[in-house]
Amino acid sequence: MAPPPGHRVLLASALGIFVLHCFTGGQKNSTLIFTKENTIRNCSCPADVQDCDYSLANLMCSCRTVLPLALEQTSYSDHLTIWFTDASALGLLLNFTLVRDLKLSLCGTNTLPTDYLAICGLKRLRVNTQAKCLSPEQSLLMLNGGEREPREQPVWFPRGWQTCMYISFLDLALFNRKSSLKAYSIENVASLANNFPYFSYFETFPILSNESYVITFIY
Ligand SMILES: *[C@@H]1O[C@H](CO)[C@@H](O)[C@H](O)[C@H]1NC(C)=O
Ligand SMILES: *[C@@H]1O[C@H](CO)[C@@H](O)[C@H](O)[C@H]1NC(C)=O
Ligand SMILES: *[C@@H]1O[C@H](CO)[C@@H](O)[C@H](O)[C@H]1NC(C)=O
Ligand SMILES: *[C@@H]1O[C@H](CO)[C@@H](O)[C@H](O)[C@H]1NC(C)=O
Repeated sequence: MAPPPGHRVLLASALGIFVLHCFTGGQKNSTLIFTKENTIRNCSCPADVQDCDYSLANLMCSCRTVLPLALEQTSYSDHLTIWFTDASALGLLLNFTLVRDLKLSLCGTNTLPTDYLAICGLKRLRVNTQAKCLSPEQSLLMLNGGEREPREQPVWFPRGWQTCMYISFLDLALFNRKSSLKAYSIENVASLANNFPYFSYFETFPILSNESYVITFIY
């Protein structure tokens, strides 16, 4: 998918900070959500837990079960870590959600479909794949999406989406690839559907205003 001509294409800080997996220290409690066997557990953890170690998470963190039907629109202004095994659970938890600092760990060996996840206001993304445990965790720092004063309003429209100006599209197939994380941003996208006529995905988007968006593709 090539960026449309006529737009300023920015390289979104392919800042490849490679942090060695499994060796991070913890500070204050952070939110960890994991999905396993059709259950969603939402945990508050005092320290980082090694990726995909479900029993350690249950031991160290204070967790509660969330019913998928009870999932509400929420936003995460701090770190959020998600351990997931399939795209649908991840979509349920994250699609059209505001998250500033996100870590995604694919637990297990599932191959993910080519599908996109739309995230609002993302500043930092880290990804890890358990099946490739020896490969380093990858991290991406966004130049936009929050360095400037974010324009998102605290008042949430249905699903919080209409007020989101920094939108990241995450290609889930990146979890299947060995290549490093890449991203590019397009600024001043006034009307998504008109600017990406060949990308039918945008047709489903509930974006209605004439505001200008900063769109980042992460793949
Ligand atoms: C998880 O818990 C945090 C508070 O610890 C809350 O803000 C967030 O909305 C919860 N997320 C889900 C999906 O239940
Ligand atoms: C932090 O985590 C510990 C251990 O799970 C828990 O007991 C405590 O209530 C949590 N603190 C907050 C502020 O969530
Ligand atoms: C996110 O939402 C869009 C629009 O409804 C949908 O096309 C896409 O499949 C969803 N992604 C996931 C991973 O569920
Ligand atoms: C977008 O702008 C056009 C003209 O500039 C106006 O007619 C239309 O009502 C605007 N739409 C919204 C949703 O603000």
